[in-house]
Amino acid sequence: MAEATRIGIIGGGWPGKAHAKGYQAAGGFKLAAVADLIPSRRKQMMDEFGIGREYADARELIDDREIDAVSICLPNDLHAPMSIAALKAGKHVICEKPPAISVKESRQIEAAAAKAGRTILFGMQRRFGGNEQAARQAIDMGYAGNVYHARAGWTRTRGIPLGTGWYIDKSKSGGGAMVDLGLPMLDVAWHLLGQPVPVSVFAVAHRRFGDLMPKEVTADVEDAAFAIIRFEGGQSIELAASWALNQPPSQNGATCRVYGDQGGIDVYTGSGAILHRGFSEKGESKETPLKLPKTVGHPALMRHFRECILGTAVPMIGPKEGVLLMEMIEGIYRSAESGKSVQI
Ligand SMILES: NC(=O)c1ccc[n+]([C@@H]2O[C@H](COP(=O)([O-])OP(=O)(O)OC[C@H]3O[C@@H](n4cnc5c(N)ncnc54)[C@H](O)[C@@H]3O)[C@@H](O)[C@H]2O)c1
Repeated sequence: MAEATRIGIIGGGWPGKAHAKGYQAAGGFKLAAVADLIPSRRKQMMDEFGIGREYADARELIDDREIDAVSICLPNDLHAPMSIAALKAGKHVICEKPPAISVKESRQIEAAAAKAGRTILFGMQRRFGGNEQAARQAIDMGYAGNVYHARAGWTRTRGIPLGTGWYIDKSKSGGGAMVDLGLPMLDVAWHLLGQPVPVSVFAVAHRRFGDLMPKEVTADVEDAAFAIIRFEGGQSIELAASWALNQPPSQNGATCRVYGDQGGIDVYTGSGAILHRGFSEKGESKETPLKLPKTVGHPALMRHFRECILGTAVPMIGPKEGVLLMEMIEGIYRSAESGKSVQI
């Protein structure tokens, strides 16, 4: 049996903990070290997960030769520099979303991964969720026919994240609600449509809730953005993201609906993912709840990471996908700024 992969977790906030739990559940990993600038966050991770070594700065952990792979759970502007440093040091990497804060950086990650011959996988655990996996299987089986459009979004009624102060500062985050909530939903919808090549985008962005953002931190990002992206072959995605929106509170949360010529799938319902088929002339349909897989979320993401490290799988959301996602996100901001549809 292959030896356990020795893991270093870099960044001890919510995602750092979620990764640690995922590694434990997936098996085949040993949680060896943690790095965080905040001592209490390191201590909590060490106590909860039995981690033996601690570092303050990310780079110290990257220099640790007894580590095979790292989870990068740092503010967005550190994703590219730390992923590239870790790849150069011969480590495999799972990096949190977004892949980077610009297309340019995402291309630098792609080049570093190719040069190092190591895995880089982006932490889009939503793709590995039960509903999402079930929807993907149903689409692969052809139950919805040719899927041509997806309506996806994550609209919070109220919920501007702060983290340690960087989410609302564009130079550190790369963007507001669209980067934080839109990007993972875009990833799910794009994945369900079969990852078509993006062609153009039209988008708008709003900043209407500046008074809800703290005054002591730079706040220059949007609190809501909406986009339509067109793909080669004519597929399309309609995307919505908000941190604050005066919507009925019942609409708070994630949606993803995929439409095909034989049927449609509502990915998030109170009863799991549901396939609608056999539409009558009046528009009635036959509803089929989709069977959920056993391993979901972070454990499924980490199991996939282990397969990539062992060479039995290719990253589902790796360097190439990272670049395409960042091209779509940059296109959204270019369109919102110019007021025009832009080529991607
Ligand atoms: N996949 C998900 O569901 C999900 C959810 C939340 C956040 N995220 C992503 O995870 C990342 C972190 O988000 P967060 O909410 O935990 O932010 P956070 O600000 O709460 O935590 C970031 C941590 O990084 C540490 N840090 C910063 N610079 C460091 C350095 N040089 N060396 C070591 N540690 C350093 C900070 O001390 C802090 O504890 C972001 O990229 C965010 O987009 C993903």
